[in-house]
Amino acid sequence: MKYEISITKTSNPKPHPQDESKLGFGKIFTDHMFLMDYSADKGWYNARIVPFGPIPTHPASTVFHYGAEIFEGMKAYRAVDGTIRLFRPMENIKRLNNSAERLCLPQLDEQGCLEILNTMVELEKDWVPHSEGTSLYIRPFLYGNDPHLGVHAVSNAVFAVICSPVGAYYAEGINPVKIAIESEDVRAVRGGTGYAKCGGNYAASLRAGQRAEKNGYTQVLWLDGVDRKYIEEVGAMNVMFKIGGKIITPELTGSVLPGITRKSCIELLKDWGYTVEERKISVDELFEAAQNGTLEEAWGTGTAAVVSPIGHLFYKGTEYTVSNNQIGEVTYKLYNELTAIQWGKAEDTHGWSTKVCNG
Ligand code: PLP
Ligand code: COI
Repeated sequence: MKYEISITKTSNPKPHPQDESKLGFGKIFTDHMFLMDYSADKGWYNARIVPFGPIPTHPASTVFHYGAEIFEGMKAYRAVDGTIRLFRPMENIKRLNNSAERLCLPQLDEQGCLEILNTMVELEKDWVPHSEGTSLYIRPFLYGNDPHLGVHAVSNAVFAVICSPVGAYYAEGINPVKIAIESEDVRAVRGGTGYAKCGGNYAASLRAGQRAEKNGYTQVLWLDGVDRKYIEEVGAMNVMFKIGGKIITPELTGSVLPGITRKSCIELLKDWGYTVEERKISVDELFEAAQNGTLEEAWGTGTAAVVSPIGHLFYKGTEYTVSNNQIGEVTYKLYNELTAIQWGKAEDTHGWSTKVCNG
């Protein structure tokens, strides 16, 4: 074991949710959390699992003032063979280290991080829900924790993991969502932090998200920050379109989060013989396709959102309906295949699903 983990179990376990259809997303937390400290002198130390609760933090801590925070989102599934499984966990760990590099936060040992995740999930395995469409959402996060106000790369940090039994991310479930294309605010620019999963990206997205919600839209679709015409991604997912039989998804330019669901969907689509173009796609091209009837499907991909059909797209006063506001054929096939692999129902030819323990 790379990081020696001490475990202090709670003496006061919480009741588990009775009605799994009401889980929602990220509202209930399990009995324990993982914490580990970092200092430039000692490296990572004091790896521990403790009862879930508040984390005492110095009021001058870097995380409060300068937003030195990154996170990941992954899920543990109760597979049909009774095992508890993760989906491509090393991809999340590598992305966490890439995000850390961008924000000058310390790197984690990849194998050690996997051991931490496995230990947490095994300890909390009874919290992995049973119903179809549910899972245990795992939220690893890492933040700078220097107790002084100078603006520098940090010398102290904390790595933490919390877990939450979840259902669908959107109230719509697998039904199409309404998305507003944002024409004022931008989420990220090349050279910025768009490709990193840092809290600041989400903080900057809230104003547009709130505006969209007020107008009846579920989330915002971001355009690029320079020309403001190329499609980037949705608030919590990457985006894909089926236009004239081909699949088109924005290329990873540095301002888009390199989604693990996106990468997996591209691999599945290629397996199925689709042409997948990772390239710039402008909002004009998209609406031309919507008008001439070649925009066949639109969907988002993400750990929380899984594969989520887009039924309406709004831009500068006009609303376009996509595939009659129904879930499209490719969207449905992707959702089914991906979830079947995650729940151990389909053959996992890519070796994406990894066993943590018996359930
Ligand atoms: N884009 C953003 C902004 C996200 O928050 C997420 C969710 O993690 C994604 C894309 C999808 O990434 P992944 O498929 O790795 O969950
Ligand atoms: C995820 O899909 O894991 C995310 O992080 C999306 C969101 C809840 C921020």
